[in-house]
Amino acid sequence: MFSSNGKMLKLVMVVALVVGVPTAYGAGDFHSEFEQTFGDHRLQISGPGNKDLSLTLDQYSGAGFRSKNEYLYGRIDMQIKLIPGDSAGTVTTFYLTSDQSTGKHDEIDFEFLGNASGQPYTVHTNVFSQGQGSREQQFHLWFDPSKNYHTYSIVWNPKLIMFLVDNTPLRVFRNYENHGIMFFPKNQRQRIYASLWEADDWATQGGRIKTDWSKAPFKAYYRNFNIDTSPNGAWMNHDLDANSRKRLKWVQKNYMIYNYCTDWKRYSQNLPPECKHAKHN
Ligand SMILES: *[C@@H]1O[C@H](CO)[C@@H](O)[C@H](O)[C@H]1NC(C)=O
Repeated sequence: MFSSNGKMLKLVMVVALVVGVPTAYGAGDFHSEFEQTFGDHRLQISGPGNKDLSLTLDQYSGAGFRSKNEYLYGRIDMQIKLIPGDSAGTVTTFYLTSDQSTGKHDEIDFEFLGNASGQPYTVHTNVFSQGQGSREQQFHLWFDPSKNYHTYSIVWNPKLIMFLVDNTPLRVFRNYENHGIMFFPKNQRQRIYASLWEADDWATQGGRIKTDWSKAPFKAYYRNFNIDTSPNGAWMNHDLDANSRKRLKWVQKNYMIYNYCTDWKRYSQNLPPECKHAKHN
């Protein structure tokens, strides 16, 4: 078709520039990268370049979306502004999962559990490998996440999964396969999901506080996502440095409210095997 490889190369380069491959998918355009999973009119995309998205929860339904593509490793950043005021019983999510119908799925979760007015959100994180989860850590935040957008990031490379908020690490979950511990998502592609739904039976203080529907509709906002799966992207070797290790310690000391690795009641003598390594981060 082309007379020389030079022309072909130029064409490939131009196409790569225009559509932004392979480093950024869709350049923050929700229409091009994502599709709605439920909620009808409760999902709205707006703004120049389709970079703003809102989800609404009312008595009848919440709403959600997922990426059209599946990924094996990468860094995903999402700016989110959570429901203000009384958000008790609501759950806003941003997570990755492989196909759940297999019974052996992998998953990497960020979930934001709403609360009564003036009470802090709980940031719930979890990791699933081959259908097994129960690796929860929970945090409060050092700011009100409903006042402004903040950037929530998942870095997933062959060595680790890192959960970050505005570039401060909340949690690092490492691959300890060289210690014989086979609990790490590493061979199933995952889609990006996000949703807003209601779960007042467990979400808020163990179900003691119910969703106040007189405050509905509830709205959460997403914008300016970025997906970096370029194999030479910085995420590939992303790890803690001296400064981020210090930040992680600060978060864990002051804002961590639950860690499965210290839940002796739940595990008695048998903490999951990665826990004895995880102390050292
Ligand atoms: C809600 O606020 C209470 C009281 O400050 C706190 O203990 C709890 O962790 C918060 N989060 C949820 C989801 O209930």
